[in-house]
Amino acid sequence: MRIEELDDAELAALYPRVDRPWLRANFVSSVDGAVAVEGLSAGLSGAVDKRVFRVLRMMCDALLVGAGTFRAENYRALRLDERRRAWRVERGLTAYPQMVIVSSSLELTGPAVDGAVILTTGGARNAALEGVAEVVRCESLAHGIALLHERGLGQILCEGGPRLFGGLTTADLVDELCLTVSPLLVGPGADRIVSGTPHPLRRMGLTHTLTSDDGMLMLRYVRLRDSVGPSEYGHRRE
Ligand SMILES: NC(=O)c1ccc[n+]([C@@H]2O[C@H](COP(=O)([O-])OP(=O)(O)OC[C@H]3O[C@@H](n4cnc5c(N)ncnc54)[C@H](OP(=O)(O)O)[C@@H]3O)[C@@H](O)[C@H]2O)c1
Repeated sequence: MRIEELDDAELAALYPRVDRPWLRANFVSSVDGAVAVEGLSAGLSGAVDKRVFRVLRMMCDALLVGAGTFRAENYRALRLDERRRAWRVERGLTAYPQMVIVSSSLELTGPAVDGAVILTTGGARNAALEGVAEVVRCESLAHGIALLHERGLGQILCEGGPRLFGGLTTADLVDELCLTVSPLLVGPGADRIVSGTPHPLRRMGLTHTLTSDDGMLMLRYVRLRDSVGPSEYGHRRE
């Protein structure tokens, strides 16, 4: 399918909310596997990919991001246009998703910290966050994600980065990966979308591919677990 042929409703239908707790990750990578150009994802991204990015934000209950990405990409307060906010409110969702940052150090500043939930596994303290953000102490990433689900934040969108994603794949917490392949060769030196220590293979199933006129390829994969049949994640479409 060409993304240019889809209107926003058709595009949104390809990235459904799932009727059980669900963790979706979204990344953009170059053809040769780089996660960033000069330390930022912006050099890989484009207007088409941003369209999917915004749809995924519209769909989620919580936006999960690692502190490294939060700092490197200079996260700002979440923005969603009026039409997308209305879409959410009509469906009984809050106007904006809940921002959730994963951090051990708690070294976080900036407007996007305001009202954020910070999942932390260590014992660090940061007095500047008191009354600004909610620090939630958890035993592990799995525990932190379970706490979010308990709060009714069932649909979680992880926007990276590689270390957080590695932690999530190690704990087998990733249900879906939306990956944009950007038509660039970045060359040696850049990280992949995942980092950390090796873990067993995780089998994924392809649910759709989208292409764009400027050579982007957008893929949606879901985790194939014994308990998940193909009908639960939709039919493969190309
Ligand atoms: N291409 C893309 O789609 C994309 C997407 C996102 C990011 N990126 C790129 O990725 C780079 C940043 O990635 P990164 O891997 O350095 O950072 P990251 O995964 O976003 O964040 C790493 C930090 O998150 C916290 N953290 C992660 N996992 C944790 C765990 N299990 N327990 C406790 N804390 C945990 C720690 O924060 P503290 O340091 O505060 O303790 C850690 O230093 C940037 O270059 C960014 O541009 C690219």
